[in-house]
Amino acid sequence: MDMNSANIEEIVKQVLAGMAGNGSSASAAAPAASGDIPKVAHVAMLTSLEHYDIKEFPMPEVGDDDILVKVEGCGICGTDAHEFKRDPFGLIPVALGHEGTGEIVKMGKNVKKDSAGKDVKVGDKVVTCMIFKDDPEITMFDLNKQNVGAADVYGLLPDDDVHLNGWFSDYILIRGGAFGSTFFNVSDLDLKSRILIEPCAVLVHAVERAKTTNILRFNSRVVVQGCGPIGLICIAVLRTLGVENIVAVDGNQQRLEFAKKMGAMKSVNFMEHKGIDALAGAVKEAFGGHLADFAFQCTGSPAAHSNIYHFIRNGGGLCELGFFINGGDATINPHFDLCSKEINLVGSWVYTLRDYATTFDFLKRAKAIGLPMDELITHTFPLEEINEAHQTNLAQKGLKIAIINK
Ligand SMILES: NC(=O)c1ccc[n+]([C@@H]2O[C@H](COP(=O)([O-])OP(=O)(O)OC[C@H]3O[C@@H](n4cnc5c(N)ncnc54)[C@H](O)[C@@H]3O)[C@@H](O)[C@H]2O)c1
Ligand SMILES: [Zn+2]
Repeated sequence: MDMNSANIEEIVKQVLAGMAGNGSSASAAAPAASGDIPKVAHVAMLTSLEHYDIKEFPMPEVGDDDILVKVEGCGICGTDAHEFKRDPFGLIPVALGHEGTGEIVKMGKNVKKDSAGKDVKVGDKVVTCMIFKDDPEITMFDLNKQNVGAADVYGLLPDDDVHLNGWFSDYILIRGGAFGSTFFNVSDLDLKSRILIEPCAVLVHAVERAKTTNILRFNSRVVVQGCGPIGLICIAVLRTLGVENIVAVDGNQQRLEFAKKMGAMKSVNFMEHKGIDALAGAVKEAFGGHLADFAFQCTGSPAAHSNIYHFIRNGGGLCELGFFINGGDATINPHFDLCSKEINLVGSWVYTLRDYATTFDFLKRAKAIGLPMDELITHTFPLEEINEAHQTNLAQKGLKIAIINK
């Protein structure tokens, strides 16, 4: 896999080089604390391929700039699945989990506000973000541009001396460093919404990218191709914007039914149509005889990328976001698909810091208009069953799988 391996290698080098100095200093003044904090923390450490061990570590000192969080839950992301199955970057042993959330149980005396300037106190619910600068050029795997290490980024980089840096755990230490970790007080969101923030930010970003084409309107006809969690959340973001005329395309009938629950007006099962002309015809029919103004490509299938141009009208737009990693080459016809159609094409990858913060309000709006966001989390497991949780994820049972602590 060549997913930005140069970037990742650079990050890993930086982290390994900086590890000796990454520990937090103990606070002289007693930090604010709530409840009884146990003497040991439990961290699910990926110690070999497809195997986590639950390790015990002494509860660390909470430095003046640090926050100790009692973890409530964490979603399993595609990145975790890659690491579990293949360890492509040689990170083992590593504490994973970056879609996590929990409650502040202890804070250093210097911690007053979150990364958005909102007050924080013991008892508040927080999430972390991998983006550190409010710069539209910076997305998640540009971590080397941000010059950060394991003390700032959680659930992605190799283990260090504090160990509590992945959200698949019962406690995590958010450390204030040279840049300071990016964290947000999201006490006004329920647990499932907080777990969904990270994947939802991907779609807030994709829709922002789509808007730059100036084609999306309230009354646009929009195709969403692929109804896994990414496509389903895409439909949800469009619905919260007021876009209604959405056609979902997938080969899995159950997912297509969920797409309609999420607000797609119609669905097309590509398995029922032989050949691209018949499939494009079905999409056109679903829009009452029109092709789409705009399409979102939310599968990792190169064939699906080739198909999607056939669903879009001349002068329409396309946002390709299905290839978080290299999924191979796709065939297109530059004359028919691009030039003669005058397609407005944008790519989208991860999110910016501003998209992350925008996502908190998106989740509130989605719930307020009755979208079944909670149902995206189809399976939950306790921390001790993290290996089973990952196997369930690999077997593609359900949609989002999450660890929920007792
Ligand atoms: N751009 C980003 O930053 C970003 C972030 C996260 C994930 N992704 C990518 O988004 C993609 C979707 O993620 P997911 O978690 O929803 O995956 P998923 O595998 O759960 O869902 C993909 C869906 O596409 C459907 N599909 C496959 N081939 C199809 C075809 N030819 N036509 C129509 N539908 C087809 C499948 O049936 C499935 O329901 C992944 O490939 C992932 O790499 C991108
Ligand atoms: Zn993720």
